[in-house]
Amino acid sequence: MTAATLPSLAVHGFSESAAQARLLAESLGAPYADIEVHRFPDGESLVRVDSTAKTVVVYRSLDDPNDKLIELMLAASALRDGGAKRLILVTPYLCYMRQDMVFHPGEAVSQTVVCGFLDNLFDAVITVDPHLHRTSDLASVFPTARAEALSAAPLLAARLLERDIARDTILVGPDGESRQWVEAVAAPLSLDVLVGQKERAGDRKVAIEIPGIEQAAGRAVILVDDVISTGMTLAGAARLLLAAGTTGAEVMTVHMLGDPTVPALLRDAGIARIESSDSVPHESNAVLLAPMLADSVRRMLGQLR
Ligand code: R5P
Repeated sequence: MTAATLPSLAVHGFSESAAQARLLAESLGAPYADIEVHRFPDGESLVRVDSTAKTVVVYRSLDDPNDKLIELMLAASALRDGGAKRLILVTPYLCYMRQDMVFHPGEAVSQTVVCGFLDNLFDAVITVDPHLHRTSDLASVFPTARAEALSAAPLLAARLLERDIARDTILVGPDGESRQWVEAVAAPLSLDVLVGQKERAGDRKVAIEIPGIEQAAGRAVILVDDVISTGMTLAGAARLLLAAGTTGAEVMTVHMLGDPTVPALLRDAGIARIESSDSVPHESNAVLLAPMLADSVRRMLGQLR
């Protein structure tokens, strides 16, 4: 196929999130194609694309990211070799965003390095609720590519509205970094909010306090956080709240990462229900991002013209 006869737009996805990538393609009215990956016994990956388009939307969430980053690099190369003029990465979960500074001497600033890597491969990057804490604006870590950070908070709020939860439910953010998400979800429903304080002593060791926790006695709580990784943060917060007399604890998160043991850990801590967006495929997915992502892709197409 010559460059002139290539389709104008296509969505390409990887096997682990083909369902979400297909939903995005449907929302855009664009064809979908799989990117094939073969992992060799020595750990290397062979990436193959069977078709391309003038503009290709590459869909891949970057949970468990290291192999996925290399495969994205190979896919971008193959798509450009096939004639793609513009590549848009839709990565609902953008990895390495929490290491946004040197916390201890000698550490790499992973956020800058990984965003710089993606910046070299793609003309535009779209993500959802990146963990922006000290970096105020996603565009500042993408030197040349256009970057858009969407928020799932309105969709999480809409989900709570649809579920018709008790009006005295309290939304709880486990730590200061979660404040932006818990307040954004609570505002449209005019729900009360509590925000905890967290000290992390290790990957699986956190100490949490929740000032004002006595307000949770006799009321249901929903814990809201951007990311669940080991689950220790929300498990710790739920135990405190249940000990303080809350009538029931649930969880809502944007990005449900972590290994298959995390739901059991959360249930053992007394959490009755876990809901997440489908940024990372998981049994807890209750909020579909595809329509919002498609709107963002349409905006990008206008800007990249
Ligand atoms: C950190 O600041 C994030 O907002 C989450 O609270 C954190 O990543 C959760 O990690 P874990 O589930 O491992 O406690």
